Amino acid sequence: MRFLGAGYDDDCVTEPFVPSWVKRVRFGVLAGVPLPAGLEPVSPSVLGQLHPREAVFASEERGRRQIEVAGGRLAFRAAASAFGADVSAWPLLADSARVPLGPPGLSVSLTHKEDLAIAFVGTSDAGLVGIDLEGGPRDRSAIMSRVCRPEELSAVQALPEAGRWPNVMIRFAVKEAIYKAIAPQLGRFFGFQAARVDVESKERVSITMFLEATDPTYELDNELVWLDDGRLIALVRARVSASAKP
Ligand SMILES: CC(C)(COP(=O)(O)OP(=O)(O)OC[C@H]1O[C@@H](n2cnc3c(N)ncnc32)[C@H](O)[C@@H]1OP(=O)(O)O)[C@@H](O)C(=O)NCCC(=O)NCCS
Repeated sequence: MRFLGAGYDDDCVTEPFVPSWVKRVRFGVLAGVPLPAGLEPVSPSVLGQLHPREAVFASEERGRRQIEVAGGRLAFRAAASAFGADVSAWPLLADSARVPLGPPGLSVSLTHKEDLAIAFVGTSDAGLVGIDLEGGPRDRSAIMSRVCRPEELSAVQALPEAGRWPNVMIRFAVKEAIYKAIAPQLGRFFGFQAARVDVESKERVSITMFLEATDPTYELDNELVWLDDGRLIALVRARVSASAKP
């Protein structure tokens, strides 16, 4: 396993289910685990690297879901180890809303695409972190009007055509990360119209929330991490504002 962005050669061989990189970020540690193509069941030797309860959890899934669940847990173990947390006795299970249930004191978030599972581990002292991986060759401009608020759509449409999807992709990744950071605290679903993401640069966004008036307000922070292959990992950290607490 290599530390991404620490001057390692890029010619390392990637093997399915073998953690291939870890990256220290401002909020904690990210780890990546390559996933195999296809629908083959996860082998007993890979399941054997999980906590026994995680292995049961993964075995109850089929096809790609089983591969994602196993890969996400392997990434969690790699990230926790690089973060310096002993999670050998902690199975990373999930609640009925799929929220990953990390050990006390830690914030854990997962994201995956066809070829890669990524986990984040950090302390929960400053809030819960959500992560999302987006990008790749496919232009998914068709989702633009679903992901953007009207004022975001106007800003996107004012861009040259080639810049529109990359801009929406950043908003999309940040909004999914917002959801993973806030929904476990808020305890309900909220859609893409609940946040405005202003893209200041490839490294910097600002977020304005539009939750219900009765909802808590959240202090938000974010980090954008670009992988060597051009894909983006958005990280959002959220905690209830001290001023909003009763
Ligand atoms: C839940 C959601 C964000 C997951 O994103 P996705 O692209 O389907 O999947 P990803 O691969 O990025 O992430 C999957 C992981 O997200 C995590 N996750 C799922 N639901 C979650 C929730 N409610 N809270 C926190 N984490 C959650 C799980 O750990 C899951 O991993 P798993 O495979 O082990 O179950 C997405 O399906 C969704 O419902 N989006 C609409 C809500 C939204 O984004 N609103 C915008 C608010 S501004």
